[in-house]
Amino acid sequence: MSDASYVGLASISSLLGLWIAWWLYRFILLRRLRPNDPPYLPYLLPCLGHTGRFFQDSHQLMARGVKHFNDTREPFSIVILGKTYSVITSPLDATEFYSNTVTLSWDGFLNHTLHAFGVSPERLDVLWAQPTEATTLNPHRKCLIHLTQDLYKQHLLPGPTFSGLIDKYKASLRTLTSWKRITERHHLETSSSSHCFSLYDLCATIMIDATQLSLFDPVLFAIDPTMTDNMRTFTDQLWKLMYESKMLDSKEIKTLREKYTRAFLIYQRLPKEMRKEEAWIVTALIDQYKTLAIHEDDSAAMLVMVYWTGDANAYKLAFWILSYILFDKHLHRALVTETSVAVQDNGEIDMDYLAQSCPLLKSVYSEALRLRKRDLAFRKVESDTHIAGKVLRGGNFALVPVCQLHDDRSVFGSDANRFDPSRFEKNNQLTGCTSFKPYGGGKTYCPGRFFAMQEIFAFVAVMLNRYRVQLDFPVQEFPRPDESSLTLGVSRPLPGQDLRVNLTRPVDWGSEEAGGQ
Ligand code: HEM
Repeated sequence: MSDASYVGLASISSLLGLWIAWWLYRFILLRRLRPNDPPYLPYLLPCLGHTGRFFQDSHQLMARGVKHFNDTREPFSIVILGKTYSVITSPLDATEFYSNTVTLSWDGFLNHTLHAFGVSPERLDVLWAQPTEATTLNPHRKCLIHLTQDLYKQHLLPGPTFSGLIDKYKASLRTLTSWKRITERHHLETSSSSHCFSLYDLCATIMIDATQLSLFDPVLFAIDPTMTDNMRTFTDQLWKLMYESKMLDSKEIKTLREKYTRAFLIYQRLPKEMRKEEAWIVTALIDQYKTLAIHEDDSAAMLVMVYWTGDANAYKLAFWILSYILFDKHLHRALVTETSVAVQDNGEIDMDYLAQSCPLLKSVYSEALRLRKRDLAFRKVESDTHIAGKVLRGGNFALVPVCQLHDDRSVFGSDANRFDPSRFEKNNQLTGCTSFKPYGGGKTYCPGRFFAMQEIFAFVAVMLNRYRVQLDFPVQEFPRPDESSLTLGVSRPLPGQDLRVNLTRPVDWGSEEAGGQ
């Protein structure tokens, strides 16, 4: 054997020896030394850990973890990009995860998100600092972040400002779903009474425009007319900013982030008279940014976050709901019958009727949320935290894979992986159960959930009643969701898994243009 071969063999043997020692320590010895730590799901490569599988199909990874630990549902640990994440899969432990706001901190995760949206890490402290003086809007001198959370709750939970927001949404939807506007938006011949559309495009353009018009003044469209069209790419690629790594190509998402930030830099500088139609919360936030002398780049970045939070999920859920409906003729007919009273020919919508008298629509909505809102909820572990007899170590992260709760057969039955439109109608206890967490829980329970529900109900009801919507030929397959951890929030359809739908304007609805402009 040559010297070179000998050296090569010796290096490989030492590396193998080191690897075996590491493996035995991590997966055998550590379990004995620290029996109360959530055990690591075995992996092959130190540091890289479960990164590849996590980004490829996080749901499969979580299911593998549960199976590996014999379905005990005790917390276990995985490693992503060198960091340890403790995974919580039991519904009761998940409730504890959401309610523990002291040692499992949303704030730590929020800082990470603010940075991803472009807030300078050096200036994050300013957002957490207690103001020296009380104001009418902030009598308890809360830091900007906690004040923002309060303002969201004040504005988005049912009450006077919420009703104002809903009225604006209704008016925008009425205009945006008129035949003229739909055909204009998609550059089609208005005279024809039927056209083929991408369902995903329809849901995204109409719902994002309508939400933008509810929250911001229409002048934002003039500042940057491409915001709606860019939202899908922005939300699809946002994970690259969240899991920042040199290995990821983040050029496109960073360009979009800059474009959005630039638009909000201009928007927030406009005098109030030019932003007259924006929602109360947006005025309140911009006022606060000015009072607290927040750096303009940071306040623009936070406005991008406000824009994204309001827009990023509802259009995807509406897409799934309409897909389920279009693949089931009985369901389609039943929903048209249930909702028709709430939609007039000119697009006027009775929101109260939809919210209170349409149990099937509500059930379809909850079932779609159950099957398509399956991402991960994260918290930073601030200090050692006891959950289910295990100690989550301070400095690590904790996560709840919502898919594990939403697939819970002991609650949703043996057909939990099937779409059952009347599942939640047959058992109305399901919406409040610990295994159903589409909107999170605890202190950060989504304050936009009422708005999201109403905007989706309205959009679906208007599309079903204002038009005849049918699947285009030839026969199409039901779209498959992206099950990777790459989409944040509601799953998107896998790229290329859209539906072509035919939209026909009923001949006797000629009067709609008069009321729908
Ligand atoms: C289908 C639509 C939506 C879904 C599925 C959704 C989901 C969620 C979830 C799961 C959380 C909690 C995250 C956690 O605690 O880990 C959350 C928080 C939040 N959501 Fe939503 N959301 C939706 C729509 C909206 C809308 C339309 C708005 C605003 C207009 C909104 C505003 C917020 C805000 C501000 C928070 C943070 C609350 C806090 O920090 O206290 N959401 N959302």
